[in-house]
Amino acid sequence: MIKFRSRAFVALISLIVVVLIGLGILLGQFFKYNFLDALNNKIKVEIWWVLSAGFGTAVIVTLLLVFKITTRYTKPIKAATEVAIELAHGNYRARTKVSRLDDTGILGSSINMLAENLQELTKVRDIQQDRLSALIENMGAGLILIDSRGYINLVNKGFIDIFHINPSEYLNKQYYEVVDYEEICQLIAEVFRTEQKVSKQLHLPLQIERKYFIVYGVPIIGANNVWKGVLLVFHDISEIKKLEQMRKDFVANVSHELKTPVTSIKGFTETLLDGAMNNKETLQSFLSIILKESDRLQTLIQDLLDLSKIEQQGFQLNIQMINLYSILQDVLKLLDGKADTKNIQLEFQSKQNHAYIKGDFDRLKQVFINLINNAITYTPVNGKVSIYLLDSDEMVRISIKDTGVGISKEDIPRIFERFYRVDRARSRNSGGTGLGLAIVKHLIEAHQGSISVKSKLGEGSEFIIELPKEMNLKDGER
Ligand SMILES: Nc1ncnc2c1ncn2[C@@H]1O[C@H](COP(=O)(O)OP(=O)(O)O)[C@@H](O)[C@H]1O
Ligand SMILES: [Mg+2]
Repeated sequence: MIKFRSRAFVALISLIVVVLIGLGILLGQFFKYNFLDALNNKIKVEIWWVLSAGFGTAVIVTLLLVFKITTRYTKPIKAATEVAIELAHGNYRARTKVSRLDDTGILGSSINMLAENLQELTKVRDIQQDRLSALIENMGAGLILIDSRGYINLVNKGFIDIFHINPSEYLNKQYYEVVDYEEICQLIAEVFRTEQKVSKQLHLPLQIERKYFIVYGVPIIGANNVWKGVLLVFHDISEIKKLEQMRKDFVANVSHELKTPVTSIKGFTETLLDGAMNNKETLQSFLSIILKESDRLQTLIQDLLDLSKIEQQGFQLNIQMINLYSILQDVLKLLDGKADTKNIQLEFQSKQNHAYIKGDFDRLKQVFINLINNAITYTPVNGKVSIYLLDSDEMVRISIKDTGVGISKEDIPRIFERFYRVDRARSRNSGGTGLGLAIVKHLIEAHQGSISVKSKLGEGSEFIIELPKEMNLKDGER
Protein backbone atom coordinates (compact mmCIF):
# COMPACT_ATOMS: atom_id res chain seq x y z
CA MET A 1 0.00 0.00 0.00
CA ILE A 2 2.90 2.37 0.85
CA LYS A 3 4.55 1.53 -2.45
CA PHE A 4 1.35 2.23 -4.24
CA ARG A 5 0.96 5.61 -2.60
CA SER A 6 4.56 6.67 -3.36
CA ARG A 7 4.13 5.72 -6.99
CA ALA A 8 0.92 7.69 -7.27
CA PHE A 9 2.71 10.60 -5.64
CA VAL A 10 5.58 10.45 -8.17
CA ALA A 11 3.06 10.31 -11.02
CA LEU A 12 1.25 13.35 -9.65
CA ILE A 13 4.55 15.32 -9.23
CA SER A 14 5.54 14.44 -12.82
CA LEU A 15 2.14 15.67 -13.97
CA ILE A 16 2.52 18.92 -12.12
CA VAL A 17 6.15 19.39 -13.38
CA VAL A 18 5.03 18.81 -16.98
CA VAL A 19 2.16 21.27 -16.65
CA LEU A 20 4.44 23.83 -14.88
CA ILE A 21 7.11 23.52 -17.55
CA GLY A 22 4.41 24.09 -20.17
CA LEU A 23 3.13 27.12 -18.27
CA GLY A 24 6.72 28.45 -17.75
CA ILE A 25 7.41 28.23 -21.45
CA LEU A 26 4.14 30.00 -22.21
CA LEU A 27 4.83 32.80 -19.72
CA GLY A 28 8.46 33.18 -20.94
CA GLN A 29 7.22 33.50 -24.48
CA PHE A 30 4.56 35.99 -23.39
CA PHE A 31 7.22 38.22 -21.87
CA LYS A 32 9.47 37.74 -24.80
CA TYR A 33 6.60 38.73 -27.07
CA ASN A 34 5.87 41.89 -25.07
CA PHE A 35 9.38 43.02 -24.38
CA LEU A 36 11.39 41.80 -27.31
CA ASP A 37 9.29 43.30 -30.10
CA ALA A 38 12.49 43.73 -31.98
CA LEU A 39 11.93 40.25 -33.35
CA ASN A 40 10.08 40.00 -36.54
CA ASN A 41 6.59 38.58 -36.94
CA LYS A 42 7.58 35.43 -38.79
CA ILE A 43 9.83 34.31 -35.93
CA LYS A 44 7.10 35.14 -33.43
CA VAL A 45 4.60 32.88 -35.26
CA GLU A 46 7.14 30.03 -35.30
CA ILE A 47 7.77 30.44 -31.63
CA TRP A 48 4.02 30.32 -30.97
CA TRP A 49 3.75 27.10 -32.94
CA VAL A 50 6.58 25.51 -31.01
CA LEU A 51 5.01 26.62 -27.73
CA SER A 52 1.54 25.36 -28.63
CA ALA A 53 2.93 21.99 -29.79
CA GLY A 54 4.92 21.64 -26.53
CA PHE A 55 1.91 22.46 -24.41
CA GLY A 56 -0.35 20.12 -26.40
CA THR A 57 2.15 17.24 -25.94
CA ALA A 58 2.31 18.01 -22.20
CA VAL A 59 -1.49 17.83 -21.92
CA ILE A 60 -1.68 14.54 -23.89
CA VAL A 61 1.11 12.99 -21.80
CA THR A 62 -0.72 14.09 -18.65
CA LEU A 63 -4.01 12.59 -19.82
CA LEU A 64 -2.27 9.33 -20.76
CA LEU A 65 -0.66 9.17 -17.33
CA VAL A 66 -3.99 9.81 -15.60
CA PHE A 67 -5.63 7.05 -17.68
CA LYS A 68 -2.86 4.59 -16.92
CA ILE A 69 -2.97 5.25 -13.19
CA THR A 70 -6.74 4.79 -13.22
CA THR A 71 -6.66 1.51 -15.08
CA ARG A 72 -3.70 0.16 -13.17
CA TYR A 73 -4.70 1.04 -9.62
CA THR A 74 -8.28 2.09 -9.34
CA LYS A 75 -9.99 -0.66 -11.33
CA PRO A 76 -8.40 -3.65 -9.50
CA ILE A 77 -9.13 -1.96 -6.17
CA LYS A 78 -12.73 -1.48 -7.14
CA ALA A 79 -12.97 -5.12 -8.26
CA ALA A 80 -11.36 -6.30 -5.00
CA THR A 81 -13.80 -4.19 -3.02
CA GLU A 82 -16.75 -5.73 -4.84
CA VAL A 83 -15.46 -9.25 -4.08
CA ALA A 84 -14.98 -8.30 -0.42
CA ILE A 85 -18.61 -7.15 -0.30
CA GLU A 86 -19.73 -10.44 -1.90
CA LEU A 87 -17.73 -12.37 0.70
CA ALA A 88 -19.33 -10.35 3.46
CA HIS A 89 -22.72 -11.41 2.05
CA GLY A 90 -21.68 -15.06 2.26
CA ASN A 91 -20.92 -15.71 -1.41
CA TYR A 92 -17.60 -17.51 -0.96
CA ARG A 93 -17.38 -18.40 -4.62
CA ALA A 94 -16.71 -14.77 -5.65
CA ARG A 95 -13.17 -14.15 -7.06
CA THR A 96 -11.35 -11.12 -8.47
CA LYS A 97 -9.19 -11.19 -11.61
CA VAL A 98 -5.44 -10.98 -10.91
CA SER A 99 -3.49 -10.07 -14.02
CA ARG A 100 -0.17 -8.75 -12.62
CA LEU A 101 1.99 -9.29 -9.62
CA ASP A 102 2.20 -5.73 -8.26
CA ASP A 103 0.50 -4.24 -5.20
CA THR A 104 -3.01 -4.38 -6.60
CA GLY A 105 -2.29 -7.93 -7.80
CA ILE A 106 -1.24 -8.89 -4.26
CA LEU A 107 -4.42 -7.30 -2.92
CA GLY A 108 -6.53 -9.24 -5.43
CA SER A 109 -4.78 -12.57 -4.83
CA SER A 110 -5.01 -12.09 -1.03
CA ILE A 111 -8.75 -11.54 -1.34
CA ASN A 112 -9.01 -14.61 -3.58
CA MET A 113 -7.06 -16.66 -1.06
CA LEU A 114 -9.33 -15.43 1.71
CA ALA A 115 -12.36 -16.40 -0.37
CA GLU A 116 -10.86 -19.83 -1.07
CA ASN A 117 -10.15 -20.42 2.62
CA LEU A 118 -13.64 -19.36 3.53
CA GLN A 119 -15.07 -21.63 0.85
CA GLU A 120 -12.95 -24.54 2.10
CA LEU A 121 -14.02 -23.87 5.69
CA THR A 122 -17.69 -23.81 4.72
CA LYS A 123 -17.23 -27.03 2.78
CA VAL A 124 -15.61 -28.75 5.80
CA ARG A 125 -18.35 -27.37 8.05
CA ASP A 126 -21.05 -28.60 5.65
CA ILE A 127 -19.49 -32.08 5.48
CA GLN A 128 -19.29 -32.24 9.27
CA GLN A 129 -22.87 -31.00 9.54
CA ASP A 130 -24.02 -33.66 7.06
CA ARG A 131 -22.17 -36.37 8.94
CA LEU A 132 -23.63 -35.28 12.23
CA SER A 133 -27.17 -35.14 10.83
CA ALA A 134 -26.76 -38.56 9.17
CA LEU A 135 -25.48 -39.95 12.47
CA ILE A 136 -28.30 -38.42 14.50
CA GLU A 137 -30.97 -39.48 12.03
CA ASN A 138 -29.76 -43.04 11.53
CA MET A 139 -28.32 -43.92 14.92
CA GLY A 140 -30.96 -46.62 15.44
CA ALA A 141 -32.14 -45.05 18.66
CA GLY A 142 -34.72 -42.38 19.38
CA LEU A 143 -33.30 -39.00 20.36
CA ILE A 144 -34.89 -35.85 21.76
CA LEU A 145 -33.06 -32.66 22.72
CA ILE A 146 -34.59 -30.22 25.17
CA ASP A 147 -33.08 -26.81 25.86
CA SER A 148 -32.47 -25.25 29.27
CA ARG A 149 -35.94 -23.66 29.30
CA GLY A 150 -37.68 -26.98 28.57
CA TYR A 151 -38.33 -26.37 24.88
CA ILE A 152 -37.84 -29.27 22.46
CA ASN A 153 -35.06 -28.40 20.01
CA LEU A 154 -34.62 -31.62 18.09
CA VAL A 155 -36.27 -35.00 17.53
CA ASN A 156 -34.59 -37.51 15.25
CA LYS A 157 -36.07 -40.05 12.82
CA GLY A 158 -35.73 -42.84 15.40
CA PHE A 159 -37.87 -40.90 17.87
CA ILE A 160 -40.46 -40.05 15.20
CA ASP A 161 -40.66 -43.72 14.15
CA ILE A 162 -40.96 -45.03 17.70
CA PHE A 163 -43.67 -42.65 18.85
CA HIS A 164 -45.32 -42.04 15.44
CA ILE A 165 -45.34 -38.29 16.01
CA ASN A 166 -45.42 -35.27 13.76
CA PRO A 167 -42.17 -33.32 14.42
CA SER A 168 -43.83 -29.95 13.84
CA GLU A 169 -46.10 -30.64 16.82
CA TYR A 170 -43.05 -31.23 19.01
CA LEU A 171 -40.40 -28.73 17.96
CA ASN A 172 -40.20 -25.51 19.98
CA LYS A 173 -42.88 -26.71 22.40
CA GLN A 174 -42.49 -27.26 26.13
CA TYR A 175 -41.78 -30.98 26.59
CA TYR A 176 -44.47 -31.47 29.27
CA GLU A 177 -47.10 -30.05 26.93
CA VAL A 178 -46.47 -32.55 24.13
CA VAL A 179 -44.88 -35.68 25.65
CA ASP A 180 -47.82 -37.93 26.57
CA TYR A 181 -45.92 -40.35 28.78
CA GLU A 182 -45.78 -39.50 32.46
CA GLU A 183 -42.68 -41.69 33.00
CA ILE A 184 -40.71 -39.81 30.31
CA CYS A 185 -41.67 -36.38 31.70
CA GLN A 186 -40.62 -37.53 35.18
CA LEU A 187 -37.28 -38.72 33.83
CA ILE A 188 -36.64 -35.37 32.09
CA ALA A 189 -37.62 -33.50 35.25
CA GLU A 190 -35.24 -35.68 37.25
CA VAL A 191 -32.31 -34.82 34.98
CA PHE A 192 -33.21 -31.11 35.23
CA ARG A 193 -33.41 -31.40 39.02
CA THR A 194 -30.32 -33.50 39.70
CA GLU A 195 -28.15 -32.44 36.74
CA GLN A 196 -27.02 -36.07 36.70
CA LYS A 197 -27.26 -38.88 34.13
CA VAL A 198 -30.37 -40.99 34.63
CA SER A 199 -31.17 -44.32 32.95
CA LYS A 200 -34.42 -46.23 33.28
CA GLN A 201 -36.14 -49.21 31.75
CA LEU A 202 -39.62 -48.23 30.57
CA HIS A 203 -42.46 -50.36 29.25
CA LEU A 204 -44.45 -48.01 27.02
CA PRO A 205 -47.73 -48.57 25.17
CA LEU A 206 -47.29 -47.58 21.50
CA GLN A 207 -50.30 -47.74 19.22
CA ILE A 208 -51.26 -51.45 19.26
CA GLU A 209 -48.35 -52.86 21.28
CA ARG A 210 -46.20 -52.28 24.33
CA LYS A 211 -42.47 -52.02 23.93
CA TYR A 212 -39.53 -52.07 26.30
CA PHE A 213 -37.01 -49.22 26.21
CA ILE A 214 -33.86 -48.31 28.03
CA VAL A 215 -33.97 -44.54 28.27
CA TYR A 216 -30.84 -42.52 29.00
CA GLY A 217 -31.30 -38.93 30.17
CA VAL A 218 -28.10 -36.89 29.93
CA PRO A 219 -27.62 -33.30 31.15
CA ILE A 220 -25.84 -31.14 28.58
CA ILE A 221 -23.43 -28.76 30.23
CA GLY A 222 -21.47 -26.41 27.98
CA ALA A 223 -18.22 -24.49 28.54
CA ASN A 224 -17.97 -22.65 31.86
CA ASN A 225 -20.61 -24.95 33.35
CA VAL A 226 -23.40 -23.34 31.36
CA TRP A 227 -26.53 -25.48 31.59
CA LYS A 228 -27.70 -26.18 28.04
CA GLY A 229 -30.48 -28.71 28.44
CA VAL A 230 -31.26 -32.42 28.42
CA LEU A 231 -30.66 -35.13 25.85
CA LEU A 232 -32.85 -38.25 25.94
CA VAL A 233 -31.87 -41.45 24.08
CA PHE A 234 -34.36 -44.31 23.63
CA HIS A 235 -33.07 -47.84 22.90
CA ASP A 236 -35.72 -50.37 21.92
CA ILE A 237 -34.91 -53.58 23.83
CA SER A 238 -38.18 -55.39 23.08
CA GLU A 239 -36.39 -58.02 20.96
CA ILE A 240 -33.91 -58.76 23.76
CA LYS A 241 -36.79 -58.95 26.24
CA LYS A 242 -38.61 -61.31 23.90
CA LEU A 243 -35.57 -63.58 23.64
CA GLU A 244 -35.18 -63.46 27.40
CA GLN A 245 -38.83 -64.45 27.77
CA MET A 246 -38.38 -67.26 25.22
CA ARG A 247 -35.43 -68.56 27.18
CA LYS A 248 -37.45 -68.47 30.41
CA ASP A 249 -40.39 -70.20 28.70
CA PHE A 250 -38.06 -72.81 27.28
CA VAL A 251 -36.58 -73.61 30.69
CA ALA A 252 -40.09 -73.78 32.17
CA ASN A 253 -41.27 -76.06 29.33
CA VAL A 254 -38.26 -78.36 29.60
CA SER A 255 -38.69 -78.66 33.35
CA HIS A 256 -42.38 -79.42 32.94
CA GLU A 257 -41.78 -81.98 30.18
CA LEU A 258 -39.10 -83.72 32.24
CA LYS A 259 -41.13 -83.65 35.40
CA THR A 260 -44.14 -85.47 33.96
CA PRO A 261 -42.45 -88.79 33.07
CA VAL A 262 -40.23 -88.68 36.17
CA THR A 263 -43.27 -88.20 38.43
CA SER A 264 -45.00 -91.04 36.65
CA ILE A 265 -41.99 -93.40 36.94
CA LYS A 266 -41.57 -92.50 40.60
CA GLY A 267 -45.28 -92.99 41.36
CA PHE A 268 -45.53 -96.39 39.71
CA THR A 269 -42.28 -97.61 41.26
CA GLU A 270 -43.42 -96.55 44.74
CA THR A 271 -46.76 -98.31 44.22
CA LEU A 272 -44.94 -101.46 43.14
CA LEU A 273 -42.63 -101.30 46.17
CA ASP A 274 -45.62 -100.75 48.42
CA GLY A 275 -46.80 -104.27 47.51
CA ALA A 276 -48.33 -104.03 44.08
CA MET A 277 -45.43 -106.00 42.65
CA ASN A 278 -46.78 -109.10 44.25
CA ASN A 279 -49.55 -109.12 41.71
CA LYS A 280 -47.96 -110.36 38.50
CA GLU A 281 -50.44 -108.61 36.21
CA THR A 282 -50.08 -105.26 37.96
CA LEU A 283 -46.31 -105.70 37.94
CA GLN A 284 -46.35 -106.35 34.20
CA SER A 285 -48.60 -103.39 33.41
CA PHE A 286 -46.74 -100.95 35.72
CA LEU A 287 -43.37 -102.00 34.39
CA SER A 288 -44.50 -101.44 30.82
CA ILE A 289 -45.73 -97.95 31.82
CA ILE A 290 -42.38 -97.27 33.48
CA LEU A 291 -40.61 -98.44 30.33
CA LYS A 292 -42.80 -96.20 28.14
CA GLU A 293 -42.17 -93.19 30.36
CA SER A 294 -38.42 -93.91 30.38
CA ASP A 295 -38.52 -94.06 26.59
CA ARG A 296 -40.27 -90.69 26.53
CA LEU A 297 -37.65 -89.30 28.85
CA GLN A 298 -34.90 -90.66 26.65
CA THR A 299 -36.46 -89.25 23.46
CA LEU A 300 -36.97 -85.91 25.12
CA ILE A 301 -33.39 -85.74 26.31
CA GLN A 302 -32.15 -86.85 22.88
CA ASP A 303 -34.30 -84.19 21.14
CA LEU A 304 -33.09 -81.51 23.55
CA LEU A 305 -29.46 -82.49 22.97
CA ASP A 306 -30.03 -82.49 19.21
CA LEU A 307 -31.73 -79.12 19.26
CA SER A 308 -29.06 -77.49 21.38
CA LYS A 309 -26.37 -78.95 19.12
CA ILE A 310 -28.10 -77.76 15.93
CA GLU A 311 -28.78 -74.30 17.35
CA GLN A 312 -25.21 -73.91 18.44
CA GLN A 313 -23.07 -71.44 16.46
CA GLY A 314 -20.70 -73.23 14.16
CA PHE A 315 -22.94 -76.32 13.80
CA GLN A 316 -21.57 -78.28 10.86
CA LEU A 317 -23.25 -80.77 8.58
CA ASN A 318 -21.39 -83.80 7.34
CA ILE A 319 -21.83 -83.07 3.64
CA GLN A 320 -21.49 -85.88 1.12
CA MET A 321 -23.19 -87.12 -2.04
CA ILE A 322 -26.38 -88.85 -0.91
CA ASN A 323 -29.30 -90.56 -2.62
CA LEU A 324 -32.57 -89.25 -1.19
CA TYR A 325 -34.46 -92.12 -2.82
CA SER A 326 -32.63 -94.73 -0.78
CA ILE A 327 -32.86 -92.64 2.42
CA LEU A 328 -36.65 -92.46 2.00
CA GLN A 329 -36.83 -96.19 1.39
CA ASP A 330 -34.84 -96.85 4.59
CA VAL A 331 -37.18 -94.58 6.57
CA LEU A 332 -40.29 -96.24 5.14
CA LYS A 333 -38.94 -99.66 6.11
CA LEU A 334 -38.33 -98.31 9.61
CA LEU A 335 -41.87 -96.96 10.01
CA ASP A 336 -43.72 -99.67 8.13
CA GLY A 337 -44.54 -101.54 11.32
CA LYS A 338 -46.03 -98.46 12.97
CA ALA A 339 -48.19 -97.75 9.90
CA ASP A 340 -49.34 -101.37 9.86
CA THR A 341 -50.56 -101.24 13.45
CA LYS A 342 -52.91 -98.41 12.43
CA ASN A 343 -53.70 -99.99 9.09
CA ILE A 344 -52.32 -96.95 7.34
CA GLN A 345 -51.31 -97.35 3.73
CA LEU A 346 -47.75 -96.08 3.12
CA GLU A 347 -47.16 -95.09 -0.48
CA PHE A 348 -43.94 -93.91 -2.14
CA GLN A 349 -43.91 -92.38 -5.61
CA SER A 350 -40.82 -91.43 -7.60
CA LYS A 351 -40.07 -91.41 -11.33
CA GLN A 352 -36.48 -92.58 -10.85
CA ASN A 353 -34.84 -94.75 -8.26
CA HIS A 354 -32.30 -92.09 -7.44
CA ALA A 355 -32.19 -88.41 -6.49
CA TYR A 356 -28.69 -87.28 -5.66
CA ILE A 357 -27.89 -84.18 -3.66
CA LYS A 358 -25.06 -82.99 -1.49
CA GLY A 359 -26.24 -83.19 2.11
CA ASP A 360 -25.92 -84.80 5.52
CA PHE A 361 -27.14 -88.41 5.38
CA ASP A 362 -28.00 -88.85 9.08
CA ARG A 363 -29.58 -85.41 9.50
CA LEU A 364 -31.83 -85.75 6.47
CA LYS A 365 -32.84 -89.24 7.58
CA GLN A 366 -33.78 -87.65 10.94
CA VAL A 367 -35.90 -85.07 9.07
CA PHE A 368 -37.85 -87.72 7.13
CA ILE A 369 -38.31 -89.95 10.19
CA ASN A 370 -39.82 -86.97 12.04
CA LEU A 371 -42.15 -85.95 9.21
CA ILE A 372 -43.35 -89.43 8.19
CA ASN A 373 -43.72 -90.39 11.84
CA ASN A 374 -45.88 -87.28 12.37
CA ALA A 375 -47.96 -88.13 9.30
CA ILE A 376 -48.63 -91.62 10.69
CA THR A 377 -49.22 -90.31 14.23
CA TYR A 378 -51.70 -87.62 13.24
CA THR A 379 -53.63 -89.81 10.78
CA PRO A 380 -56.44 -91.98 12.14
CA VAL A 381 -56.64 -95.71 11.42
CA ASN A 382 -57.24 -96.82 7.84
CA GLY A 383 -55.76 -93.59 6.48
CA LYS A 384 -53.10 -93.06 3.86
CA VAL A 385 -49.66 -91.45 3.85
CA SER A 386 -48.07 -90.71 0.46
CA ILE A 387 -44.50 -89.65 -0.19
CA TYR A 388 -43.60 -88.03 -3.50
CA LEU A 389 -40.06 -87.52 -4.69
CA LEU A 390 -39.45 -85.15 -7.58
CA ASP A 391 -35.98 -84.66 -8.97
CA SER A 392 -35.48 -81.49 -11.05
CA ASP A 393 -32.43 -79.62 -12.41
CA GLU A 394 -31.45 -77.50 -9.44
CA MET A 395 -33.32 -79.07 -6.55
CA VAL A 396 -35.21 -82.04 -5.20
CA ARG A 397 -38.73 -81.77 -3.85
CA ILE A 398 -40.11 -84.20 -1.29
CA SER A 399 -43.75 -84.08 -0.30
CA ILE A 400 -45.27 -85.99 2.61
CA LYS A 401 -49.02 -86.04 2.40
CA ASP A 402 -51.50 -87.59 4.79
CA THR A 403 -55.24 -87.97 5.15
CA GLY A 404 -55.05 -87.13 8.85
CA VAL A 405 -56.52 -84.66 11.32
CA GLY A 406 -55.07 -81.59 9.56
CA ILE A 407 -53.87 -78.35 11.11
CA SER A 408 -55.85 -75.12 11.35
CA LYS A 409 -54.62 -71.96 9.57
CA GLU A 410 -53.86 -70.29 12.92
CA ASP A 411 -51.78 -73.26 14.13
CA ILE A 412 -49.65 -73.71 10.98
CA PRO A 413 -47.20 -70.87 11.76
CA ARG A 414 -46.82 -72.12 15.34
CA ILE A 415 -46.15 -75.85 14.90
CA PHE A 416 -42.45 -75.19 14.21
CA GLU A 417 -42.05 -73.51 17.63
CA ARG A 418 -40.37 -75.55 20.31
CA PHE A 419 -42.89 -77.50 22.43
CA TYR A 420 -45.89 -76.23 20.49
CA ARG A 421 -48.50 -78.95 20.03
CA VAL A 422 -52.00 -78.54 18.71
CA ASP A 423 -53.29 -81.40 20.81
CA ARG A 424 -51.03 -81.93 23.79
CA ALA A 425 -52.65 -85.20 24.92
CA ARG A 426 -52.55 -86.80 21.47
CA SER A 427 -48.91 -85.81 21.01
CA ARG A 428 -48.01 -87.14 24.45
CA ASN A 429 -49.77 -90.43 23.89
CA SER A 430 -47.86 -90.97 20.68
CA GLY A 431 -44.55 -90.32 22.40
CA GLY A 432 -44.15 -86.85 20.90
CA THR A 433 -41.97 -84.20 22.53
CA GLY A 434 -43.12 -81.14 20.58
CA LEU A 435 -39.54 -80.63 19.42
CA GLY A 436 -39.64 -82.67 16.19
CA LEU A 437 -40.67 -79.93 13.77
CA ALA A 438 -38.36 -77.36 15.41
CA ILE A 439 -35.46 -79.75 14.71
CA VAL A 440 -36.73 -80.41 11.15
CA LYS A 441 -36.91 -76.69 10.35
CA HIS A 442 -33.38 -76.06 11.64
CA LEU A 443 -31.96 -78.96 9.63
CA ILE A 444 -33.70 -77.98 6.39
CA GLU A 445 -32.47 -74.41 6.78
CA ALA A 446 -28.95 -75.68 7.48
CA HIS A 447 -29.21 -77.40 4.08
CA GLN A 448 -30.32 -74.07 2.56
CA GLY A 449 -33.66 -75.64 1.76
CA SER A 450 -37.22 -74.66 2.57
CA ILE A 451 -40.22 -76.27 4.21
CA SER A 452 -43.86 -75.37 3.74
CA VAL A 453 -47.18 -76.77 4.92
CA LYS A 454 -50.56 -77.10 3.23
CA SER A 455 -53.33 -78.35 5.43
CA LYS A 456 -57.04 -78.37 5.99
CA LEU A 457 -58.53 -79.25 9.33
CA GLY A 458 -60.09 -82.72 9.20
CA GLU A 459 -58.85 -83.46 5.69
CA GLY A 460 -55.11 -83.92 5.97
CA SER A 461 -51.76 -82.19 5.72
CA GLU A 462 -48.91 -81.94 3.24
CA PHE A 463 -45.36 -81.04 4.27
CA ILE A 464 -43.26 -79.97 1.27
CA ILE A 465 -39.49 -79.80 1.40
CA GLU A 466 -37.24 -78.35 -1.27
CA LEU A 467 -33.53 -79.03 -1.09
CA PRO A 468 -30.90 -77.55 -3.42
CA LYS A 469 -28.70 -80.14 -5.07
CA GLU A 470 -25.64 -78.21 -4.11
CA MET A 471 -25.36 -75.65 -1.33
CA ASN A 472 -23.71 -72.27 -1.71
CA LEU A 473 -20.67 -72.45 0.52
CA LYS A 474 -20.11 -69.57 2.88
CA ASP A 475 -16.70 -67.87 2.88
CA GLY A 476 -15.40 -69.80 5.87
CA GLU A 477 -16.31 -73.18 4.34
CA ARG A 478 -14.42 -72.84 1.06
N1 LIG B 1 -48.92 -84.47 9.78
C1 LIG B 1 -49.49 -83.75 10.74
N2 LIG B 1 -50.84 -83.66 10.82
C2 LIG B 1 -51.43 -82.94 11.78
N3 LIG B 1 -50.77 -82.28 12.73
C3 LIG B 1 -49.43 -82.32 12.73
C4 LIG B 1 -48.72 -83.05 11.73
N4 LIG B 1 -47.40 -82.92 11.99
C5 LIG B 1 -47.30 -82.14 13.08
N5 LIG B 1 -48.50 -81.77 13.54
C6 LIG B 1 -48.81 -80.91 14.69
O1 LIG B 1 -47.64 -80.18 15.00
C7 LIG B 1 -47.24 -80.37 16.34
C8 LIG B 1 -45.75 -80.31 16.46
O2 LIG B 1 -45.14 -81.41 15.85
P1 LIG B 1 -43.77 -81.95 16.37
O3 LIG B 1 -42.87 -80.80 16.52
O4 LIG B 1 -43.35 -83.07 15.53
O5 LIG B 1 -44.13 -82.42 17.83
P2 LIG B 1 -44.77 -83.77 18.36
O6 LIG B 1 -43.73 -84.31 19.21
O7 LIG B 1 -45.98 -83.33 19.09
O8 LIG B 1 -45.06 -84.60 17.18
C9 LIG B 1 -47.84 -81.71 16.70
O9 LIG B 1 -48.05 -81.78 18.08
C10 LIG B 1 -49.12 -81.69 15.94
O10 LIG B 1 -50.11 -81.01 16.66
MG1 LIG C 1 -43.34 -85.18 15.96
